[in-house]
Amino acid sequence: MSNSSIIDLYTDLANNPDKDFGWNKGLQNALNHGYKDEWIKNIPKQVWAYCAAVGNPFEVGEFQPGDSVLDIGCGAGVDLCVASLLVGENGKVFGVDITPAMVEKARKNANQAGLSNITVYEGSMENLPIENNSVNIVISNGAINLASSKEAVFSEIFRVLVNGGHLYFSDMIKDENNLETTCCNNESWADCVAGTLRSDDLIQIMEKAGFVEVKRSSINNYKTSRSTIGATFTALKGE
Ligand SMILES: C[S@@+](CC[C@H](N)C(=O)[O-])C[C@H]1O[C@@H](n2cnc3c(N)ncnc32)[C@H](O)[C@@H]1O
Repeated sequence: MSNSSIIDLYTDLANNPDKDFGWNKGLQNALNHGYKDEWIKNIPKQVWAYCAAVGNPFEVGEFQPGDSVLDIGCGAGVDLCVASLLVGENGKVFGVDITPAMVEKARKNANQAGLSNITVYEGSMENLPIENNSVNIVISNGAINLASSKEAVFSEIFRVLVNGGHLYFSDMIKDENNLETTCCNNESWADCVAGTLRSDDLIQIMEKAGFVEVKRSSINNYKTSRSTIGATFTALKGE
């Protein structure tokens, strides 16, 4: 799968947050995933319009003031803003996204929210522009399924985390109660359908990359097609 249809679709979303792409997004989507009132209040409404979350990685993680957090496939930066509120002024938040229009929008949204500890890079999650052993926490929301090599993604996440660092992410997986026999064209890849894996396969790839305590902590009701469902995972880079 080439990245160009992914970049096309997410450029369209960056430029047209109100357009209907066939999946839930925006403030109501954040509320559906249990994003907290205090975050909703402290981040401008126009930023929430871009929320393309497929779950809530914050509900499974512990974020301490001063932590450094990396969001891969950060999109327009909603989760960057939430992470920034959680780690405070002494913390640092980094975002990486492959779509230039999303990177631009994430920088603008961070500015609009008045959050100065956010840095956003254009780049691929399969080759992260981030130093080895440099962040405490990696988060991601609705992005890893879009990578053609999940092995490369998890090995990159492992590389950039410090020992003892945590991975918390939400993503679309195959809904094992609703597997369709005919699935998937290139377009459905960009819509978070064709690139999804079964939970067990994803967990196996994370363990192969070196992660321990790998768990699927929840499944939610988010759908991008009949055969896919949102889920949240946690994993640890051991000491
Ligand atoms: C469904 S959106 C989710 C955005 C954001 N995490 C959110 O919750 O609103 C997926 C994002 O992943 C980005 N993306 C897709 N493939 C990528 C890759 N290989 N490397 C980095 N980002 C990628 C897209 O540009 C898009 O912004």
